Amino acid sequence: MNKSNTCLCLLLVVAIAAGCTVKEPFFKTDPELLTNIDRSFADADQQYQLMMKNLPPNQFPKTFYPLTGKFEACNSDWWVSGFYPGSLLYIYEQTKDTVLYKETERILKVLEKEKYNKTTHDLGFMMYCSFGMANAIRPKPEYKDILITSAKSLASRFNSKVGCIQSWDAKPGEFLVIIDNMMNLELLFWASRETGDSAYYKIAVTHANTTMKNHFRADYSSYHVIDYNPETGLVQKKRTDQGYADESAWARGQVWGLYGYTLMYRETKDRQYLEQANHIAGFLLKHPNLPADKIPFWDFNAPDIPHALRDASAGAVMASALLELCRYNKADQAQLYFKTAEKMIRTLSSAQYKAIIGTNGGFILKHGVGHMPKGSEVDVPLTYGDYYYLEALKRYKDYAN
Ligand code: GLY
Repeated sequence: MNKSNTCLCLLLVVAIAAGCTVKEPFFKTDPELLTNIDRSFADADQQYQLMMKNLPPNQFPKTFYPLTGKFEACNSDWWVSGFYPGSLLYIYEQTKDTVLYKETERILKVLEKEKYNKTTHDLGFMMYCSFGMANAIRPKPEYKDILITSAKSLASRFNSKVGCIQSWDAKPGEFLVIIDNMMNLELLFWASRETGDSAYYKIAVTHANTTMKNHFRADYSSYHVIDYNPETGLVQKKRTDQGYADESAWARGQVWGLYGYTLMYRETKDRQYLEQANHIAGFLLKHPNLPADKIPFWDFNAPDIPHALRDASAGAVMASALLELCRYNKADQAQLYFKTAEKMIRTLSSAQYKAIIGTNGGFILKHGVGHMPKGSEVDVPLTYGDYYYLEALKRYKDYAN
């Protein structure tokens, strides 16, 4: 061992002994995978140029049905609308292709009106994954105003008796909160920092605490939907909507929770959120039904495992979340998360999941599952699958820089 390696080892031993979190140089990226990732961004650029041609005017991509060739789009008020501009920007950041940047500017104009939308909890997904990223890349006062107005609209759905932001509007006497809602809190933290108004911060923390109390089972899997009494705040029912059964572990819901509590720790540095994220990661990584290639079945309790469909979108969200969570942990756990995410990126970037250029309606990934019980968007590309896949690629690349 040469002198510099000896120093590095000593430093690592001292850091671990002192209980420090692992610093990035210890996450060793694979040069071959990095080359592959650069190729994936170049491929994604071509795919999104195709998608631009497929998009009906003023609409946003949802999915594509390979068997019929049908491209499905939606209006700006559907929860997925922010992922298209977000994906364009992730690709643009890497390829510097101005065609994609111009397309982002065009579609953001269509999306802007949603800042006033108080009928959905999804404003975090819709506005932060789009305008939030646009503002991070090239800050503009108008982007900031749009984000603050969006945060106000989102905060208007908070009920202090329940201690949560309402997810879906429902019948009188019902107050429905889904685990996915953890993802929308990032917008509130941003707004709190920008405006200096701690109300946004308090709402986000209260929502996360209530969710931690009521959404999770003893094994740290989560329910999809909790129905609260809006007057008393008491839990009325714990159930699913998109999962296999009320007591099952719907894969995307589990990974929304993983990502959500990871971002809670990033924003607050409160260790209870780190512990929660680690517990969720433990549930996922030790689960006997997590396949060797690490891409989850659409539900961890799907009855036809091992023949059940995989959900590439859940895999993409999980990979991205693990690539952040590994930063906050100590050696062994950090390595486990990093290596698992690496494996997931390899799997998603293989021909099994990544579409051939010119196919798949322009989407990058195949084999997502949107809403199995309804039979909608089953075994198809999903716009959010692409977005979190691109985010995972970028996060992996960041460890090499
Ligand atoms: N937020 C809805 C979903 O994950 O399908």
